[in-house]
Amino acid sequence: MCGIIGIAGDQSVTNRLLDGLKRLEYRGYDSAGIAVIENNKDGDILKRRRAQGKIVNLAERIKQEPVDGVLGIAHTRWATHGAPNETNAHPHFAGRVGLVHNGIIENFSQLREQLKGKRSFQTQTDTEVVAHLIDEAMNTGMSAKDAFANTLKQLTGAFALGVIIDGIDGTIFAARRGCPLAIGLGDSENYIGSDAMALATLSTRVIYLEEGDWAIITKDSVEVFDENDTAVVRETTIVSTSMAAAEKGNYRHFMLKEIYEQPETVSHTLTHFIDAFHYKAKTPKELELENLDWRKLERLSLIACGTAAYAAYVAKYWFEQLALMPVDVDIASEFRYRKPALSKNTLAVAVSQSGETADTLAALRYCQSKGLQTAALVNVLESTMAREADFAMPINAGPEIGVASTKAFTSQLTALLSLAIAAGVQRGHISEEREHALIQSLTQIPRLITETLKLDKDIEALALDLSKAKSAFYLGRGVHFPLALEGALKLKEISYIHAEGYAAGELKHGPIALIEEGTPVIVIAPSDEMFEKTVSNMQEVSTRGAKTILITDAKGAKHAKDMADAILICPEVCPETAPIVYAISIQLLAYHTAVHLGTDVDQPRNLAKSVTVE
Ligand code: M6R
Repeated sequence: MCGIIGIAGDQSVTNRLLDGLKRLEYRGYDSAGIAVIENNKDGDILKRRRAQGKIVNLAERIKQEPVDGVLGIAHTRWATHGAPNETNAHPHFAGRVGLVHNGIIENFSQLREQLKGKRSFQTQTDTEVVAHLIDEAMNTGMSAKDAFANTLKQLTGAFALGVIIDGIDGTIFAARRGCPLAIGLGDSENYIGSDAMALATLSTRVIYLEEGDWAIITKDSVEVFDENDTAVVRETTIVSTSMAAAEKGNYRHFMLKEIYEQPETVSHTLTHFIDAFHYKAKTPKELELENLDWRKLERLSLIACGTAAYAAYVAKYWFEQLALMPVDVDIASEFRYRKPALSKNTLAVAVSQSGETADTLAALRYCQSKGLQTAALVNVLESTMAREADFAMPINAGPEIGVASTKAFTSQLTALLSLAIAAGVQRGHISEEREHALIQSLTQIPRLITETLKLDKDIEALALDLSKAKSAFYLGRGVHFPLALEGALKLKEISYIHAEGYAAGELKHGPIALIEEGTPVIVIAPSDEMFEKTVSNMQEVSTRGAKTILITDAKGAKHAKDMADAILICPEVCPETAPIVYAISIQLLAYHTAVHLGTDVDQPRNLAKSVTVE
């Protein structure tokens, strides 16, 4: 996961930037770099040092060729677009501009195309174009401030940026859209950091930029602007340095923080599983899964518990549709006891956030004992499952503290969809053109999640009604059926309201008997080919008194405007990636319902984060 740190002060910055990068090592990275404005007798000069691999390599590089100044930015890069080498390492330079970036600039290829002939690009990254846009705007006579603000308006995607400019003394420009960015306040010095950990030891007074904010930071001042370029004042939070790694920031709960982290965490997952620069799904070889060959496999067996199992259920649809590969999904606690008939050419994949869940681990071992190839799709790469499986696949969502799984779920889905695409390509069922389109849709997810997060206030209002219910139903069809199951699980585990998820067409085979006046029914139905059918099912419960909340897109909302009691309008999204984006609304709905009820959201009763007993 990429990390950013920046210092605007009047003391030397290089060593402190290196320290900051070291504190960000826990996020994982493959190259690192710093840029400073060096003041010497010839005036200010923008300089940088970068190195592939560990921060010690960068420190060594700086020792060989020292650079220093009182203004600087630094970055640890986890490659998304372009190989993890020194050329692609941040900071990126274009003319007078030096820039570091976390996240994905989705429209980078269109922007590069626009600048064709005017600028020459040195890297394969999506980031470099942003530095060129700022420099190009200044060349037309714009002030640095206007050039920065103007550039932000041209970018599509989820990102955090830190920029320094040769000739603009002592100033860092910073922006946040989708990916977190914090400003640390010091005495005669101010900072930027991708999280509180980056700022630990530098500052305990932190301003967390809000969605769409950008800022101008000097040693004596911090100016923050919202997405409409209006100057705003954001609250200053005091953080404890020792707890920085596990800080909630200005979020009330870890669960909410983790919900909001998803544009960034999904970007990190994508980084690992796709080559976004070439719009390709990574091959097993590129994923370092040397002996895995999707063509030789006859079956996939996905084994998991709880939320991870629902991610697996969604993946069944993807693997069957995109790779024509038969998939079994098993709840791990049932798997080995039903003595499954296993065929040799099966890959068994344990899906687990923690990589320690006892039943999933036992199932993995059972598959190994039967001679199957095994893989572990985990968030914790050091976990037992990752160590014991033949292939370990990290989802890279970062530590998940809230007991209710949120960001791990969307990262599991993102990883599984990327793998399904890779399998489809290798098995010859996905053309190059289709692969390109699917990967493009994947890279749009962080931005679409950011847009969905804007529904937060509407969802909070709907949750007030839901919090008064005794029980609720979630309905969906196709990939949205497992999402309905996940919605119901989220609601019950943190709000303690009884909830059930059903395939929308199944309700009338029994459970519809439970519908009475006012029973909340949450219907997940983007305007895809199943929309009409799902809406019919919604009407069946409506006429029996249910209070319906329809989660759909603008097209669906137009069609069903008089049919639901409330409609949540999610952004337009392609059918394959829809469950990843729609997951956000059901997470927020459960979260706000629980908050209205005053439950212990992060540590709900009777639950443990990692279930290491059978
Ligand atoms: O660590 P794991 O993914 O193996 O955990 C599996 C389940 O215990 C977990 O998803 C659980 O259902 C969560 N509390 C759901 O929010």
